[in-house]
Amino acid sequence: MDNIYLIGFMGSGKTTIANRLGTKLQLAVQDTDKMIELFYQMKIKDIFLQYGEKTFREYERQILGEVEKHNCIVSTGGGIIETPENILELKKHQTIYLQTSWEVIMNRLKEDTGRPIWNNQDVDKQALLHKREGKYIEAASIIVNTDGKTTNQVVTEIITLIDK
Ligand code: S3P
Repeated sequence: MDNIYLIGFMGSGKTTIANRLGTKLQLAVQDTDKMIELFYQMKIKDIFLQYGEKTFREYERQILGEVEKHNCIVSTGGGIIETPENILELKKHQTIYLQTSWEVIMNRLKEDTGRPIWNNQDVDKQALLHKREGKYIEAASIIVNTDGKTTNQVVTEIITLIDK
């Protein structure tokens, strides 16, 4: 089976949903952020601190090109769609946009300290979500709204919508 990619803003539940989906469909799960940390032996936070976002996007671009191409669920970083080549790549596969409202995201991430963009006071995160929305929609073949749904409800919805 071709891979299934999960995209969406920080806090939209990509990692949790990917893991549950992987268990249900008995597919391996790959996570682009984890792969970057493993390959470059650095925390995402430190890559941003030492080299900046541009370098992180280059690493992310390279890693997306290197994920196993079959029988996997791929959880991606929230900014994967900031690189136009990544959108082209995602469009070749079943890509699910986990669409989540600003209110839900804000509530989930209010205590978060590990995400460099979320924790950057100079970035208007709500404006960033709005700016990215069209890119997520462009890259996705399936859109699932997650607001007010449990992990199981989202996973069940995805299973009914994907080509297996
Ligand atoms: C980012 C989201 C993060 C991570 C990096 C940049 C972003 O992933 O890739 O900090 O630009 O939105 P999550 O979406 O898993 O938080």
